[in-house]
This record gives sequence, C-alpha cells and structure tokens, in this order.
Amino acid sequence: MKIVMLGAPGAGKGTQAKMIAAKYGIPHISTGDIFRANLKEGTELGMKAKEYMDKGLLVPDSLTLELIMDRFKNDDCANGYVLDGFPRTIPQAEALTEALKANNDDLDYAIDVDVPDENIVRRMSGRRACLSCGATYHIVYNAPKTEGKCDACGSELVQREDDKPETVLNRLSVYHAQTQPLIDYYKGFDKLKSVDGTQDMNKVFEDIVKILEN
Ligand code: AP5
Ligand code: MG
Ligand code: ZN
Repeated sequence: MKIVMLGAPGAGKGTQAKMIAAKYGIPHISTGDIFRANLKEGTELGMKAKEYMDKGLLVPDSLTLELIMDRFKNDDCANGYVLDGFPRTIPQAEALTEALKANNDDLDYAIDVDVPDENIVRRMSGRRACLSCGATYHIVYNAPKTEGKCDACGSELVQREDDKPETVLNRLSVYHAQTQPLIDYYKGFDKLKSVDGTQDMNKVFEDIVKILEN
C-alpha cells in the first residue's frame, strides 16, 4: 500500500500517518522528521534544511528529492509506505509519479486531512514533540501521561522551533501557495480522498481506514 498524506501544517498528517503505519505494518516516512533528525545530529543536510524550516519556508526540491529517493531504496519500502510531508510541491509530486512509473508501480491514495486555518494555530501552539522517537503530543487534545515526558521513550518533550505563531502563519501561506495545488493534481489522477480533520483523531482514523479497506 502506497499512501500520500496531504494537509496543512498541523492538520494531523503525522498523527494519522503513525496510526496507518502501525495498523498496516508499513513505514511512516516524514521528510520533516528526517530533516529534524539530521539537524539534531548536526549533519550538513540538517544545517541546510534549518535555514528554511525556521522561517517556515520549504527546503529546495533538489535536496528533498535526493533524500526521499534514497529513502525509497531501503528494504522496508518493499510493501509500501505512508508519506507524510512529501510531496509538497508540484515538481516533487511529478518526480514521485515518474519514479513509481519507472517501476511499473502506482500510488494507491492521496488522503487530504482537511482542517481550516482557524484551527491550525491553536493546534500548533499546544503541540509537543519527542526528538528522540518522533512521537507527537498535544497539551490538551493528546496529553502525555507525565507532563513534559514522552510516553514511548521517556525523553523530554519540546516545542518545535517552527511552531511559534508568526512562523505558523508563514507555513500556512506557503502551504496555500505551493502545496494545496497537489489536491487538484491528485484529483486529476483519481487518487484523492478527503477526510474531515477537525474531528477527534480516532474518528479521523476510522474514516481513513474505511477508505483504505473499501
Ligand atoms: P513537517 O514536519 O512536515 O511539518 P508540517 O507539514 O508543517 O506539518 P506538521 O508536522 O506541523 O503537522 P502535521 O500535519 O503532521 O500535524 P500533527 O499530526 O503533528 O515539515 C516541517 C518543515 O520541513 C517544512 O516547513 C519545510 O521547511 C520542511 N519540509 C518538510 N518536508 C518538505 C518537503 N517535502 N519539501 C520541502 N520542505 C519540506 O498534529 C498537529 C498537532 O495537533 C499535534 O499536537 C497533535 O497532537 C494535534 N492533533 C492532531 N490531530 C488532531 C485532532 N484530530 N484533533 C485535535 N488535535 C489533533
Ligand atoms: Mg508532521
Ligand atoms: Zn519519545
């Protein structure tokens, strides 16, 4: 199963992608998580990506594509994957379509998690992330058992650098300009499915499972 998650920053792509990955035994591939992991390790890629991420801008396509095409070579992708945060521009989507076509392969679904801008800033300000294992929490909607500590691995939870309100507004406008056109792109290939992302996260997941299993 090969799935692309679409949606604004904070729509819940990561939250849902992790649930899909766990249920269907496929890897969750988040370009944002890979960039943040690189930054944490101080790699050159991480340093380059940081310049853009901190401003809420997209990392250049060339860097992103190199990284993701390399990731696809990993054995764990044999049975598919759920992509979160990639593709994010039309050139990235075209590169993915071409790469799949070259292997006589195709995407199953592009799932748009639809959440209006008004809800986004509130979600981002409450998000806390574990930089060790990638788990994500929300101080109100999905609180960890112990405040400030990751349920899964016990590490300290942090607020992401790009979750400050000013940066969130930038990310939203970048989303509308560069990523939202992917909705029509995938509609054109008859791959697009939309779910109402304002619902409780378990209800959103139920709706996604219905799509995948219908
Ligand atoms: P990335 O890490 O992908 O960030 P994003 O797209 O901005 O999305 P987020 O991770 O912020 O949100 P999400 O949709 O995953 O929501 P989450 O599940 O966490 O990218 C970061 C940066 O990296 C980009 O700005 C760019 O610079 C760069 N980058 C990455 N990929 C790139 C690419 N392909 N090309 C170029 N640059 C790239 O949920 C958010 C919060 O809400 C959480 O606290 C969660 O607990 C809560 N929540 C989730 N669902 C619900 C619900 N149903 N109800 C209530 N709360 C909920
Ligand atoms: Mg995410
Ligand atoms: Zn953790």
